[in-house]
Amino acid sequence: MNAITGQKRLLHGGDYNPEQWLKHPEILEKDIEYFKKAHINTVSMGIFSWGVLEPEEGKYEFQWLEDRINQLYENGISTILATPSAARPKWMADKYPEVLQIDETRHRKLFGGRHNFCHSSPVYREKTRAIDLMLSKKFGKHPGVIMWHISNEFGGECHCPLCQDKFRQWLENKYKTIDALNDAWCTTFWSHQYQSFSQIESPSPRGERQLHGLNLDWKRFVTEQTRDFLLFERQAIRDGGSDKPVTANFMYDYQGLDYHRLCDGLDLVSWDNYPTWHKREEYETAIDSGMQHDIMRTLLKKPFLLMESCPSATNWQGVSKLKKPGMLEAASLQAVAHGSDSVLYFQLRQSQGASEKFHGAVIDHYGGPDTRVLREVTRVGERLSNLSFLTGTETEAKAAVLFDWHSRWAMENAQGPRNDGLYYKETVSKSYRALRRLGLNVDLPDMTQSLDQYSLVVVPMAYLFRGQFEERLKNYVEGGGCLVMTYWSGIVDENDRCFLGGTPHGLMEAAGLRSTEIDGLYDWEENHGRPLEKNSLGMTRTYSCRNLCELVKTDGAEIIMEYTDDFYAGYPVLTSHLYKKGQVYYICADMEQAFYDDLYEKLAALMDLKGPAEVIPEGVEVTVRTDGEKDYAILQNFSRQPAKVKLDQGWTLIENGTLILETENNHRDQQEEAWLNPLETQVFCKIKKEQA
Ligand code: GLA
Ligand code: ZN
Repeated sequence: MNAITGQKRLLHGGDYNPEQWLKHPEILEKDIEYFKKAHINTVSMGIFSWGVLEPEEGKYEFQWLEDRINQLYENGISTILATPSAARPKWMADKYPEVLQIDETRHRKLFGGRHNFCHSSPVYREKTRAIDLMLSKKFGKHPGVIMWHISNEFGGECHCPLCQDKFRQWLENKYKTIDALNDAWCTTFWSHQYQSFSQIESPSPRGERQLHGLNLDWKRFVTEQTRDFLLFERQAIRDGGSDKPVTANFMYDYQGLDYHRLCDGLDLVSWDNYPTWHKREEYETAIDSGMQHDIMRTLLKKPFLLMESCPSATNWQGVSKLKKPGMLEAASLQAVAHGSDSVLYFQLRQSQGASEKFHGAVIDHYGGPDTRVLREVTRVGERLSNLSFLTGTETEAKAAVLFDWHSRWAMENAQGPRNDGLYYKETVSKSYRALRRLGLNVDLPDMTQSLDQYSLVVVPMAYLFRGQFEERLKNYVEGGGCLVMTYWSGIVDENDRCFLGGTPHGLMEAAGLRSTEIDGLYDWEENHGRPLEKNSLGMTRTYSCRNLCELVKTDGAEIIMEYTDDFYAGYPVLTSHLYKKGQVYYICADMEQAFYDDLYEKLAALMDLKGPAEVIPEGVEVTVRTDGEKDYAILQNFSRQPAKVKLDQGWTLIENGTLILETENNHRDQQEEAWLNPLETQVFCKIKKEQA
């Protein structure tokens, strides 16, 4: 199996800005020397270079870039080449103010910053296309250039007249008649009816913000317009003659864009990961960052790239915390475990001035090779070289936890049961965490993706249903699937209009119940769920719940657990319903983590869902990648104590930082018990069983 980048190695390197050092050729020489020492094989260049590439309108200077690409290539280092659209030169903003965004209060921004251009501006598109075409023609077939990095961290929105027009066109395309739009947005409320598409304005604090349908469609439009720009840049690259893969770097938990919609213009997904390690227990951070890796992998369901990460401390978080020894290695290999074919950093050499001068880098202002950070980076490089067999290997998951952008947008915008926090992401994370504790790989698809391949599908707080999702879930259960659904699901249609006739919409029969009311709890309140005697799932403990408590009326479902307090003591908290060939479990309240841990342990046992290990201590992550013939289990200890993991039969240790690199006789080969020091990573292998 080969990675899309065509490389049989895991990429190691990152953002490199030689344009900041053109007056210091000796520094550029040193960079290459240090890169080679640190096993750096890839750089990302040109991301913010427009000002140097086109210093005056129509005057292009590419020689410096060509020299860099060539020299790096001669030294075995590949280039990921960026289009420079994320930051524009000053001359352009001065001559063509339309390239500057207008904010939601309808004020045009001044020149400055980055990531702030108008996606609709014909001038910006013309200038972007011109430079992208030239870059593609010049470097698109260069053997040292392995892929394209479109712009940088797409985000933001523009409310200028050009964008307003595009929005109106987009709405007209979608709804055809203004009557249909008025119906979809429920504009009769407060007499907000529109008479024509030309009257529509994007949401603004100075105007309309209460029509939830408008807010939701605006978010969708921003994604469409950004996607259109991305595809426009991709086309320029293709028209320039380059057919190298194209990526765009995504951000952590970014809510401004639906990445599912954006990524169909990409050959592979990449993203930038900056966890606040050491702020709490490392394992807590590892779970969160593991979930983000899995969200990114699930977008295209294939290996992704870690495009940026920090080799040391960032300079934009509240506190700029250094990574303790071993942390960089563990964090980097965690990305690989979850499906990344790279470990790339921001940045390779620290800039001398401006806003990121104190952001961690592989080479710092001191400039010598004898630094702790460079040693840690070198260590990562060594391990990645040993793990090159993982390049392009896939991740198979039997369990999925739904994570849907549109539903989240609508839920967090709606004024509903708890305006002081619904905890959507935290709720998703509770199921995710519990399944990962069992050593299971987990996908996080949205409502547009297929669910057929999963034995277990968890649907937490799926407030909005779109694309006949209820039908698809019903079919899934009818066909024998196991569905776990929670409170606050199937409440509204794709325009955020409440379903009439009972919820969870379309699934009341399958779940064997109907939701009747939902209680928001104050921060200091809690209720409890206690098991009924002799419940069929064998639940035995009582757990606390907070924030949201839904009341349901069962119609065929078995009550497994019930509330203990308040006027709804005795109402169901957890139910189970056999429906056709499948099973539906319904969770009524925001339960504590231990509830989820115990629930999935029971379900996994019932369904014979197994990871590679029987016993996984708290703090250890077990993740599997596969090349179709062999499975590779990656074990990582994120706890602060040594940990013992008991693997199933047949797993062989093949790569271990301590053993392979530092010990001569590998006496722990062929073992089934793994001992891991804090922050240690070990890789095991097993021949895949023939499929019956
Ligand atoms: C983002 C950007 C980079 C850099 C880093 C700093 O991810 O893409 O250009 O600013 O943050 O952490
Ligand atoms: Zn605009």
